[in-house]
Amino acid sequence: MSIDLQTLRPSRIEINLDTYAENLRHIRQHTGVPLMAIVKANAYGHGLLPMARQALQAGAQQLGVAIPEEALALRQAGISAPILVLGAVPRAQLAACIHAGIEITVPSEPGLAQALAVAEGLGKKALVHLKIDTGMARIGVPAEKAAPLIEAALASPWCHIQGIFSHLACADEPDSAMTATQLERFLSACEYFQRIGAAMPVRHLANSGGVMNFPETWLDMVRPGIMSYGVLPGKECRAQLPLQPVLALKSVVAHSKPVKADTPVGYGATWRSPGATHIATIPLGYGDGWSRQLSSRGAVLIDGRRRAIAGRICMDQFMVDTGAQPVAAGQEVVLIGEQQGARIRIEEVAELAGTIGYELLTHMSARLPRVYLKNGQPVMVG
Ligand SMILES: Cc1ncc(COP(=O)(O)O)c(C=O)c1O
Repeated sequence: MSIDLQTLRPSRIEINLDTYAENLRHIRQHTGVPLMAIVKANAYGHGLLPMARQALQAGAQQLGVAIPEEALALRQAGISAPILVLGAVPRAQLAACIHAGIEITVPSEPGLAQALAVAEGLGKKALVHLKIDTGMARIGVPAEKAAPLIEAALASPWCHIQGIFSHLACADEPDSAMTATQLERFLSACEYFQRIGAAMPVRHLANSGGVMNFPETWLDMVRPGIMSYGVLPGKECRAQLPLQPVLALKSVVAHSKPVKADTPVGYGATWRSPGATHIATIPLGYGDGWSRQLSSRGAVLIDGRRRAIAGRICMDQFMVDTGAQPVAAGQEVVLIGEQQGARIRIEEVAELAGTIGYELLTHMSARLPRVYLKNGQPVMVG
């Protein structure tokens, strides 16, 4: 089926499925352990279903999501691979998860009791991952109090312990001592299985920071999210693997005009042209997830050259200063990605917007069409 991109909104996201698969392959080869592909929050803005399918095709053993709705959407789409809900599952959603064979995070003894009661009522075992808090203070039992939770889970016929896990708070900082402390606490909690002669479930700890900076955290499975999309988890991380950004954000010039010196541009007239110049208008704005913090900061690519953002970002449009040379309506604009050898990375944009790549990615709105590419060709629009 050929896809007509002509009639599509010109402000759009391009997602390279081959790049995502390549990134996952690099991570798998590098770590040599099974991989849980993290596809929560609409696969970091890339689109839940296409990325989940691609991750499994690329050899991911398991998918990780944040909330039951995401897991159930994957099941409803026919994905039968193991899926873990990483967050605490609300009591009212336990039955749907257990019924669908979705693996659930158990963050406490009362949480376990709830899950077991629901499982017994359904006559179906709950597949659980015990969550240990080793220093993030988010969800999970404190490492030193893991034993009663493990005992209770082992004692129940309504529970199968698939995994035991924790989350690293500072693994994007290669020099932080926190990760070693968290690892030590986690391993000591896991040791309880050995001590009582019970089978060790899958131990998993490493997010992208752990994968990149702390090989000792890889254990039995890794859970990379942001790095699989080709984005660095933190400023101090250096790319050791040849991971490439999966997502590009593109638009076209909607309008271009010459302006005289000292012309005010945009809401609040906060930017004035320093001399005679040309102003081009780009048809996307903070309503699409293009942060308003980028007002008069940063740039976009037109003709392979950086053009500075002029004035405040509007909800649906923003303006750039294109200098002495006019640009034509319809010309391609790259906000994130490559054009004629020039590149703007999301990490750079995030820094200018005072945030992180994670937030920019997950804020890309549903109003932006997502064009999926394979072998350089569009294969699907989402
Ligand atoms: C429990 C858990 N594991 C793994 C990840 C993936 O993290 P990252 O995107 O930093 O690799 C997250 C994301 O926040 C998470 O909450």
